[in-house]
Amino acid sequence: MKHIANPWVHSLGTYEPGRPIEEVARELGFENIEEVVKIASNENSLGPSPKAVEAMIRSAPRMHLYPDGGAFYLRRALAERLRVHMDEILVGNGSNEIIELMGHVFLQPGSNIVMADRAFVVYKLITAAMQAQTISVPMTNYTHDLDAMLEAITPETRIVFVANPNNPTGTMVNGAELDRFMARVPDHVVVALDEAYIELLPPSQQPDTLKYVRQGRHVYVLRTFSKTYGLAGLRVGYAVASRHGIELLHRVRQPFNVNAMALEAARAALEDEAYVERTRKMVREGLEQLAGAFDEMKLEYVPSVANFILVKVGRGREVFEALQRRKVIVRPMDGYGLPDHVRVTVGLKQENERFLQGLRAILAERGGA
Ligand SMILES: Cc1ncc(COP(=O)(O)O)c(C=O)c1O
Repeated sequence: MKHIANPWVHSLGTYEPGRPIEEVARELGFENIEEVVKIASNENSLGPSPKAVEAMIRSAPRMHLYPDGGAFYLRRALAERLRVHMDEILVGNGSNEIIELMGHVFLQPGSNIVMADRAFVVYKLITAAMQAQTISVPMTNYTHDLDAMLEAITPETRIVFVANPNNPTGTMVNGAELDRFMARVPDHVVVALDEAYIELLPPSQQPDTLKYVRQGRHVYVLRTFSKTYGLAGLRVGYAVASRHGIELLHRVRQPFNVNAMALEAARAALEDEAYVERTRKMVREGLEQLAGAFDEMKLEYVPSVANFILVKVGRGREVFEALQRRKVIVRPMDGYGLPDHVRVTVGLKQENERFLQGLRAILAERGGA
């Protein structure tokens, strides 16, 4: 069928996700998958909020029915919490889907996006699928260089993506920097502020980005239930934007883009503040544990505000593979132009320890080789 496909499809790259536990176990012949630690996709090691699990169980007998395609109750709960109007929210199949919807709405051959060279790779994959160009702007100290990104904007630019905090670097720009940036973004461009990890920060440290929506700026704030809310498997994310901006996304979405169980679970998770607090505590303590160990091991790392950390181990893919053989899955970073790093998700204390033990052993073997 190759010759029937659109010619540009052949040159598209594919996303390399964190490897599923089952796949690694099958490949390496591990019998007990419980022993495999996956700290590769910035998931929440606490498991889902118990309230979300209850909501899923409660909703199971109704799964013969299509979901509410308008996600009314979840949008209403989000609108109350965020103090925006329901019509300023769109729910998606993970925030990844919303990135794709933005591509459908704003990109075409000849247009481009601006992003940081080490920001979330999905932006450029979707841009390529829309036959548009990606302008990659080098980061400074592993952080978005917003001034350089502004300078990179051309008349053909349609979207500027800012991941804040950024994956895979774990760095963030502050509210004042964003204000200066937003004030200078030209009118022919929309800004996607991807805040997949923002709820990991205490509310006092989260920049107020919804004010840009209230001010009627060309902005989409993207959030997800996959990280802080522990529901990556269900696929729920959302966008906050002006009514008009949301209306554009509705035009290109599938009628039932988010499943009914996911809608119920997300609404329950949103109410579970104790769970969010436990998550923040696990991440705070885990970051200290990992950074402390890296200091002792004299490994360079990028200080992170998110639930993962980028560490320079030298020949990262080799370390990733050796860790896999020790039943620990992390993420190699060559795809991000960082072949000497791996990215490790902050897990439970014992998961972090399994990773550190493995890493110490691998580096010691290498030192002795
Ligand atoms: C910066 C960033 N944005 C968006 C996503 C997508 O999240 P989801 O599609 O699970 O909502 C991720 C997931 O890793 C991410 O790191």
